Amino acid sequence: MCAKPLKKEPRQVETTGHSWDGIEEWNNPLPRWWVWVFVGTIVWGVGYTVAYPAWPLLTEATPGVIGGNTRLDVATEIAAVDKSNEAIKAKLVAADLTAISADEELANFATNAGAAIFRTNCATCHGSGAAGVEGKGYPNLLDDDWLWGGTMEDIHLTITHGIRNTTDKDARYSEMPKFGADEILDATQIAQVAEHVLALSGQEHDATLAAAGATVFVDAGCNACHMDDGTGDRMQGAPNLTDAIWLYGGSREAIIETVTYARFGVMPNWNERLSEDEIRAVAFFVHSRGGGE
Ligand code: HEC
Ligand code: HEC
Repeated sequence: MCAKPLKKEPRQVETTGHSWDGIEEWNNPLPRWWVWVFVGTIVWGVGYTVAYPAWPLLTEATPGVIGGNTRLDVATEIAAVDKSNEAIKAKLVAADLTAISADEELANFATNAGAAIFRTNCATCHGSGAAGVEGKGYPNLLDDDWLWGGTMEDIHLTITHGIRNTTDKDARYSEMPKFGADEILDATQIAQVAEHVLALSGQEHDATLAAAGATVFVDAGCNACHMDDGTGDRMQGAPNLTDAIWLYGGSREAIIETVTYARFGVMPNWNERLSEDEIRAVAFFVHSRGGGE
């Protein structure tokens, strides 16, 4: 194969005997440089598998004579970073929740770590920019409209125990009655109270229906959770109905649907999945996004 190819006149070269539509395939030898490169790749390949971990054995791969192990290198690097962060993580856990922002080093660390934790664990529901998904019940975490409270303590508690989950008995909990499905209110009353909610939120509404709805709002006890003026109650995670921010939608249809079947937004508790320093970092990140109180 590597023999110096004999330079022959085209006519002297044999053909392979293949011929298509009168075009014949000649049996020219491969250019010598090409053959040497080809041989070189084989030698390189064999050498590489000897030098580096390569051949799979039963439990692991051959170690390679120069002992390189990129997987181990990464693990070592991660361990080194973890170790160098140990002190600041301990400081974060020990810090007063409200004092983190005053410590620049701690605040920087919490913001960066929190952003990464948010991307991995929270963005699936709250969106990569934390703006939530309106109409789907995933609240925007950037605004200053809070269901359960926007101080560092409130946010920390919400993240630690979650909301209406069955996995943490300390989860935040409240339940709006299913006024339609459980026949607490009939369709007329629901239409009236929905009209009152439209009025509360400053939207176009039928004034007569809304006036009747204001009575239903009190008689049915909506005000026990959403307050007389509709501004909501953070102790019960009952949303403010007077602003233009909606968890499940502020249209007449969406409001009727909410009152008929109620909603039951669930958020997992994170105390089993994240460590305390991670929960604090992501709480700080959320708090610092703009709407923190
Ligand atoms: C499986 C979906 C899901 C994931 C994942 C999730 N959340 Fe939530 N989160 C929700 C829902 C739904 C609510 C609203 C619950 C309600 O209606 O009260 C909520 C509410 C919140 C609130 C309260 C907002 C307020 O107005 O009081 C905070 C803070 C929050 N989430 C932070 C986080 C953080 C931080 C993470 C990641 C560690 C996270 N969430 C992951 C679904 C999720
Ligand atoms: C026991 C407390 C409670 C009572 C009573 C109650 N609600 Fe609610 N309401 C809530 C909670 C909590 C939510 C949020 C549910 C969630 O996050 O899944 C809510 C959500 C809503 C929403 C959706 C708001 C949005 O942003 O999408 C509307 C509208 C609403 N309630 C109207 C009413 C009306 C009208 C009544 C009376 C007929 C009523 N509620 C009675 C607790 C209550």
